[in-house]
Amino acid sequence: MSKANDLIAEYRSTGTLGLLPAGHFIDGAFSQPAHNRTMESFDPGSATPFARFTAGTKEDIDQAVASSRRAFDTVWRDTAPVERSRILQRASALILENLDLLAVVETLDSGKALQEAMGDVRGAARAFEYYAGACDKLQGDSFPLGPDYVGYTIHEPVGVTAHIIPWNFPISTAARGFAPALAAGCTIVAKPAEQTPFTALLLADLLFKAGLPEGVCNVVTGTGAETGAPLTAHPDVDHITFTGSVQTGRTVMKAAAEDITRVVLELGGKSPVVVLADCDREQAVSGVLGAIYENAGQICSAGSRLVIEKSIHDDFVAELVARTKALKLGHGLGNPDVGPVNSSEHLGKINGFLDRARADGSDIVTGGSVTEDPATGCGWFFEPTIVDAVSADNELAREEIFGPVLTVQIADDADHALALANDCQYGLVAGIYTSDFAKAHRLARGIDAGQIYINEYFAGGIEVPFGGNKKSGFGREKGLEGLVSYCKTKSIAARIG
Ligand code: NAI
Ligand code: MG
Repeated sequence: MSKANDLIAEYRSTGTLGLLPAGHFIDGAFSQPAHNRTMESFDPGSATPFARFTAGTKEDIDQAVASSRRAFDTVWRDTAPVERSRILQRASALILENLDLLAVVETLDSGKALQEAMGDVRGAARAFEYYAGACDKLQGDSFPLGPDYVGYTIHEPVGVTAHIIPWNFPISTAARGFAPALAAGCTIVAKPAEQTPFTALLLADLLFKAGLPEGVCNVVTGTGAETGAPLTAHPDVDHITFTGSVQTGRTVMKAAAEDITRVVLELGGKSPVVVLADCDREQAVSGVLGAIYENAGQICSAGSRLVIEKSIHDDFVAELVARTKALKLGHGLGNPDVGPVNSSEHLGKINGFLDRARADGSDIVTGGSVTEDPATGCGWFFEPTIVDAVSADNELAREEIFGPVLTVQIADDADHALALANDCQYGLVAGIYTSDFAKAHRLARGIDAGQIYINEYFAGGIEVPFGGNKKSGFGREKGLEGLVSYCKTKSIAARIG
């Protein structure tokens, strides 16, 4: 067990970490790829490469899918649910035992603040704990068909499942897909994002050490084009869980259509945080700041649109601006308030939105520019930014920026706030701040989103189903509903009389 401080010291003196895995994880071991090609992973906080990893190909995917198929057919689908449960419980404990290593690696790969990475790793352990408890409770129904029949359902595992993972929450997205898939009796081939390949590999190794039979969880690293595409098009994959952009989600859905493969798509968002005049002011201000600046705004469910009632707008935005200006930027390992964004390409994309906003005369009340780590002058940073009084047709109110950029929309009253909240192509989550219980629940009912947070943004955990409406995708992860994605219901009706 390596401690965070030792790992950080090692990274500072060598520029890398000795414990990083190499190769894909296939059939219970780190394995050599078909072709010996590698790619660099960058530390976004310093904008320097810190490690190389395998750039996989279709041959590696074929090998991983064959391994998962074998493991499904010969072992995992018929492993007793209580035994699956025990393995997932051990996995949860092992993740926590390796908390520091996983969190430091996650911070180096993604850029996020170490405390946030630790929260993500704890959340991953919690996902395995939660679904460990569900393995032996996947009960079916029985149907009253009269004295001459019996009718019942059983939940069968769907088979080999593909998991395409993004770079913003690498270990948490992996865990929230792997844990229910394994609980249901499915096997896995995962493809982490090429920006953040390492924690999925480490997780697969820990699962194996927890007792998962070989081939049940395979991880292949590489680009979307060379490994993601062959995985989603593979005829022997039975289900795909994809988290990422709308554009790639569309490509994945088309690939899945070829073999009628099942898909869950968790795509983008432009989630509103509705703040009404009767809110608890401190609760709302800190809620709005956390909703947009956590993980430097690179969260599908970030609260990126503040929809605020006109009568409190001026004071509220002034307070937000003052608190935003006080935020400390820095390398993730130093636990800043706001870390870097994940890549130079992504930084350029965020900056493009602000360049256009400047050109069209938008009211950028704080931030708005590319910057760097004040301690080192390095890294891919964007200033925490607020753009005020944005009209509903502006791209700042319509498009996902995926950075620390808050768009403010002004509402006359609660009804107008509801209309603004829903005037959007996305429907992932929404926040509501008000002390009026009835108004809160009327808004919660009226907003078209998969999840609503009242008086605490990001409230709830693995117990609560999560997923989008409209262009945010479909299907639900987390909660008991998250298990359903990995099951096929079989109905059996028999004549007995
Ligand atoms: P992306 O959707 O292209 O990448 C997500 C995953 O899909 C990665 O593992 C990638 O390798 C894989 N992928 C790419 N092309 C593929 C293909 N043809 N077939 C199968 N898999 C493929 O997202 P990208 O380019 O990294 O980010 C672009 C934008 O997407 C961001 O600016 C953000 O707006 C959004 N995004 C949303 C996320 C979310 O949590 N919903 C996560 C990441 C990005
Ligand atoms: Mg990286």
